Order: sequence, then structure tokens, then C-alpha cells
Amino acid sequence: LQLLFNKERPDVDAICRYMENLPVPGLDESAQYQRRHELIERRIRQVRKAISSLQNMRRFVSETLERMPDGILIGDELGRLFYSNESGRRWLEKLPAKGATIASLLEKRHNIQNTAAWSDAIRDAIVKGVSSSRNWADKGMAGIVLIAPLTLGMKGNQGVIVTFSDISAIHQAQMERLQTINFISHDLRSPLSSQMALLEKAHRELIGNAEAVALVEKLQGLTRKSLNLADDFLQLARVEAQSDLNLYACSLQDIVDNALDTAAPQAAQKNIDITVRETEADFYVRANAGLLERALGNLLSNAIKFAPPDSTVMLVTSRRGQFIRLSLTDSGPGICEIELPRLFESFRRTRQSDELHKPGSGLGLKFVKTVMSRFGGTVGVESKPGAGSTFWLDLPACPRPGRPA
Ligand SMILES: Nc1ncnc2c1ncn2[C@@H]1O[C@H](COP(=O)(O)OP(=O)(O)OP(=O)(O)O)[C@@H](O)[C@H]1O
Ligand SMILES: [Mg+2]
Repeated sequence: LQLLFNKERPDVDAICRYMENLPVPGLDESAQYQRRHELIERRIRQVRKAISSLQNMRRFVSETLERMPDGILIGDELGRLFYSNESGRRWLEKLPAKGATIASLLEKRHNIQNTAAWSDAIRDAIVKGVSSSRNWADKGMAGIVLIAPLTLGMKGNQGVIVTFSDISAIHQAQMERLQTINFISHDLRSPLSSQMALLEKAHRELIGNAEAVALVEKLQGLTRKSLNLADDFLQLARVEAQSDLNLYACSLQDIVDNALDTAAPQAAQKNIDITVRETEADFYVRANAGLLERALGNLLSNAIKFAPPDSTVMLVTSRRGQFIRLSLTDSGPGICEIELPRLFESFRRTRQSDELHKPGSGLGLKFVKTVMSRFGGTVGVESKPGAGSTFWLDLPACPRPGRPA
């Protein structure tokens, strides 16, 4: 029976015949023939059920492997290919010859340079049980290859599994982002900076000619607006393109002090007082100081922009479990409930800020949200029309450097 089961396609009829001839101990053949028959029928049904669920499971596993979007190559203890799924065969570009080693197939397919040979990595996986990964790019295609040891069967024989994940779309998006960054910084931002410098020179030289000075000042205002927009774009594109941000323990106090220094001239223009309140003196958060300073600067500049002149903006830092909350409250016009959910999208501005002719392109909050998600934190807002707004940042708390957690 064991032999019949182990076959690739179990012969159900043979199993049934075998079962029918099984002796049933303790039964009198003439008197209890019916009983015996029923018993065997039941056993046969059970066997049929077991075989069908076994077949279903086998089909499920092999079809799942076959259709996996990642390429899979499995090699034996000598690194010879014995299984490849559909994506794996596509990656190899042709049906592999019988007995070929995975290393030779990959070397033929991808002439990699400046990295250890495929054969070394595969040998290390089989012999030493060491996993490795490498990036790979060829003919506009990009991928990540993982080489890992695999234990084959019950005897503990070693093999190797090589997977290939196609990241061409991500790679392409990254290239496009880099092109956007280059375009904004060189083609858009640089001429605007030169224009700004020339206008300043013209402004100095035209002193005494009130009409010309007024015209130059108007031009300066427009150029500054375009320059700010290019800067906002650039900051956002940079943070989106950066694959690994440098995150470390930052002193919240230093970040708040720097952001307040930057915001001071804007606050002074409207005679706005920024009051800082801390529940503990020594907060440290895991972040990138430059980006966090800019994110807080964006919230501060919004609060000052929307707060009425001669009012107070309140900045409070407090501990909330594993997070440090930094909240900023102003007594500005507030925001309608219906506009709150989409406030953090690019170019989103409330109807009220357009009606009040408040300047801005609507990229500041998008930057804050992007940065916060990269830090593993969150940004939120509470606001009601006529009752001011509170924007808050929840940042992952961390111990002061040099102190145990
Ligand atoms: N403190 C606030 N009070 C009222 N409305 C606000 C406040 N902060 C943001 N908003 C609303 O959210 C919108 C988006 O803010 P965001 O900072 O993204 O853009 P912006 O300030 O208009 O332009 P930018 O920051 O790019 O110069 C603002 O235009 C405004 O409508
Ligand atoms: Mg803003």
C-alpha cells in the first residue's frame, strides 16, 4: 500500500482492489459478509479522500512555485539545476540542459564583473550554509539575486536555492526621480538664482529711480516665488529618491532652537510670539536632524502665516509612550473638516487660504508627511473653522547617545 501511495500518480483502482482483499480479523465470512463489505467500502472512501487531498496539495505547491513572479532555481548538492519555475526559465533565457550547474547557466547568461563568481557564492551556500545577495542589471532589466542554502529531503543533503526578483520598474522610477532632481536643480533652480542675483544688482544701481525700483521689487517677488517652488520641489524629490536616510538620535531641543531661529524673521514681521513648553527637558528622537528641522520649519511657517498679527503660537513637546509628540497650535482661521483628509497631498490648499490670498504652493505639508513616514513617525492635525489649528508630529523616542536604552 505504501508503494502504491508513493507513486507520482497513485493507482486508485489498484488500492481499492488491495483493500477489498484485506482480511478482517474476527469476522465470520458467511454470517457477516455484509458487515465486512461495509467496512471495506468505508475504508475505500477514506483512502480516496486522502489521495485526493494529497494530490490537491501537491498540485497547489507545484503550481504556486511555477507561477511565482520571482524566478526560482533549485540545485542539488553539486549545484546542478533540478528545478526551475517559469520566471526562472525566462530569466535564464532558454531551457537549461540536463545536468547543467546553476553557476554555469548564470555565468553564460550574466557576465557579472567586480563581484565574486556565481560559482563561489553557490559553493558557499552549499558547503558553508552561507546566504548572499547581489544586485544585477542587464539590457534595461534590474534585479536582486538571493543565493541561500537548502536542506533537501530527510537525509539532510545540502542544496541551493537561487531566487531572482525583478525590480526593473522600481529601478526605472528611481532613475526618473534622479532625472527630475537634476532637471529642477540645474535647469530650473540655477537660472532663477542667477536672476535673483542680477535683480539685486539692478535694485542697488537703480536707487533714486522710484519707478524702476518698484518694478525691480515686483520682479524680485515673482522670482522669489518661483525659486521657493523649485526649492520645495527639490527637497521633496530628494527625500523621496533617497533610499536610505541617515537616521540617528537627535536632540529635540537643538532642532526646535534651530527651527525657531529660522522662523524668527517671519514671526517678527507679524509680531507673533512663539511660546515653547516642554514636559521634560531632555528629549531625543530617532530622525535626521536636517530633514526634521525643515519639516518643523514648514509647520512653523504655516502657523505664522495663518495666525493673526500680535498673537501667540504655542509649541509643546511631550512624551506619548514610545513617541515624542511635538505639537504646534495657532489661533488662525482653522480648517474645515471636509478639507482635513486631503491636506497632506501635493499642491493641496484650502479654499480659505486662496480666498485670504495666503502665498504658498501646497508642497510644505506633503514634505512633512513624507519625512515623517521615513522616520517611522506620523503627522496629524486637529482643527475647526474659527478655532485655530494644532498640527502635531509623533517621533520615535530614543535614549540620549551614550546612555543605555
Ligand atoms: N496652520 C494652518 N492654518 C490653516 N490652514 C493651514 C495651516 N497649515 C496649513 N494649512 C492649509 O494647508 C495648505 C497646505 O499647506 P502647505 O504647507 O502644504 O502649503 P502652503 O503653505 O500653501 O505652501 P508651501 O508650504 O509649499 O509654501 C495651506 O495652503 C493651507 O490651506
Ligand atoms: Mg506651507
